[in-house]
Amino acid sequence: MRSGAPLSGTTRVSGMTKNAGLKQMAASLLAPGVTTLRNMTPVADLDVMVELLEAMGAGVERRGEEVRIDAGAELTPEAPYEHVRRMRASINVLGPLLARYGRARVAMPGGDNIGSRKLDMHFDALEAMGAELDVRHGFIEARCNALGGARVVLEFPSVGATETVLTAAVLAKGETVVENAAREPEIVDLCTFLTKMGASIEGAGSSTLVIEGVANLTATDHTIVGDRIEAGTLLFACAIAGGDIVVEGVPAANLETVLRKLGEMGVVVTATPDGLAARAVDPLMSVDVQTLPFPGFATDFMPLAVATMAVAHGTAIVTENVFDNRFAFVGELNRMGADVSTEGRHAVVRGVPRLSGAPVRVSDVRAGAALLLAGLAADGDTTIVDTYHVERGYADLPGRLRALGADVTRVREPTREDPGA
Ligand code: UD1
Repeated sequence: MRSGAPLSGTTRVSGMTKNAGLKQMAASLLAPGVTTLRNMTPVADLDVMVELLEAMGAGVERRGEEVRIDAGAELTPEAPYEHVRRMRASINVLGPLLARYGRARVAMPGGDNIGSRKLDMHFDALEAMGAELDVRHGFIEARCNALGGARVVLEFPSVGATETVLTAAVLAKGETVVENAAREPEIVDLCTFLTKMGASIEGAGSSTLVIEGVANLTATDHTIVGDRIEAGTLLFACAIAGGDIVVEGVPAANLETVLRKLGEMGVVVTATPDGLAARAVDPLMSVDVQTLPFPGFATDFMPLAVATMAVAHGTAIVTENVFDNRFAFVGELNRMGADVSTEGRHAVVRGVPRLSGAPVRVSDVRAGAALLLAGLAADGDTTIVDTYHVERGYADLPGRLRALGADVTRVREPTREDPGA
């Protein structure tokens, strides 16, 4: 890829398969019947979740962007390591399996390229609901006679822990109250899906969730939410490459903080009836950013913000508060001529006028997107390797950028070998 003309045109966001759809596929195990999920844009991690559900005995059919999961058969409540090591979201089967079968055996995911990623909050919450958990020989062994409602106070509004509690509590006996719950739009979408299945959940989108357990759930039909992270990625691409784009299919409310920051950087973003219009104005200004749970500035956007401010006017301090090791991509960005130094959770980004194209290696999905964007502001060719990380969460990001006028070519199909995030 190489830098070129400013971006222009209109594009529609994909379905949020990685952060929402995969969780709903796992939650479909709660109901013995056929669940239909629509708007399931085919990213690489979807293949892994399909294989995992099939390995447990569920039937999965895919037609275009529709996925049907038949969880009617008696399932084997076990998630093997070969799937979990490729994708951490495999952990999302733990709550549903425990709620439906009273037992589950799920390979324990390790840390990954963005942090140590513990599961203590998942475990504490399930134990408060009456489950017994052990980690033995690399597997989480969970069992319970019956799950009961509990008061769960999360230490941090973890997305994953909130999902685990929700998917266990919907079939538990009695009321579960989750305090300090995650408020991400993906959690709201999961609550909408579970409610359609017959669950009783109050407070979706707020910090307190109240779930009244029901005896059974029924398989349902759901169209998953548009991908706010892909939308934000395209807006940062517009910031870095310049131009004028329209991104449809995502409400401004799902991107409020990032839109404010882009505004301070000099990108004029306005809400349209079905999305957002962005116009980049010269010069791009540096702004300080700190990542926080929703509605704060999402950690997924941090690498994109760093890449963008690498070529902005001034110096920015970027603080990563969510994951403990998310700056691995900075070394690659610096190989492209950026001036970024990191210390623990902080990065100091000193803007330079241009980057210079170089071969770079991707370490995780959003880091890969950030390097792609950096290539839009670099002189000469940028060659990116290990792009399979990018394919895990984006469906053809190079093609999307190319459709908006960027000079990006896929030289070789990505292959996937590594443990995933
Ligand atoms: C999900 C998203 C990820 C997003 C993140 C935002 C998917 C596939 N991934 O990841 O894109 O950036 O939410 O928060 O949807 N933690 C603990 N103990 C726990 C659980 C979490 O210490 O029991 C820590 C993690 O190590 C991390 C922080 O809490 O530092 C946030 O994790 P969490 O919100 O759970 O993120 P994920 O669900 O893994």
